[in-house]
Amino acid sequence: MKRIITYGTFDLLHYGHINLLRRAKQQGDYLIVALSTDEFNWDSKQKKCYFSYEKRKALLEAIRFVDLVIPEKSWDQKIEDVQLYQVDTFVIGDDWKGKFDFLKDHCEVVYLTRTPEISTTQIKSDMREA
Ligand code: CTP
Repeated sequence: MKRIITYGTFDLLHYGHINLLRRAKQQGDYLIVALSTDEFNWDSKQKKCYFSYEKRKALLEAIRFVDLVIPEKSWDQKIEDVQLYQVDTFVIGDDWKGKFDFLKDHCEVVYLTRTPEISTTQIKSDMREA
């Protein structure tokens, strides 16, 4: 069984996220999503989520491409996760292109093209203007 892992915040789940998750799952058989906790988002990414970790997790668990959701609590846990979950392939959007090449010593690394013209930040800003 080929195991895939991806990381992200996935707040205000949108079709760009679904596209990413569908293509991530197509890379193998079992998809793990490491979901940024509220603390990690705030402390390390300066992002305030609209939906709590528990709500974002429940939404992801309802998606048929997603097999397991685990917490992302730090930037440094990726090698440990890859080893612990016996991950074959790390997948993320190409806004991160090159940033995680250090994982190539441990698994395959795939950057997927982002879906154009949609992001959580964009949704928030459009809603403020509406
Ligand atoms: N993603 C994507 N296409 C988009 C938006 C996101 O493929 N249009 C991917 C990202 O590249 C990442 C994953 O979805 O691999 C989770 O991204 P996240 O940062 O949670 O979503 P964004 O909508 O980009 O959120 P923000 O605007 O807060 O950065």
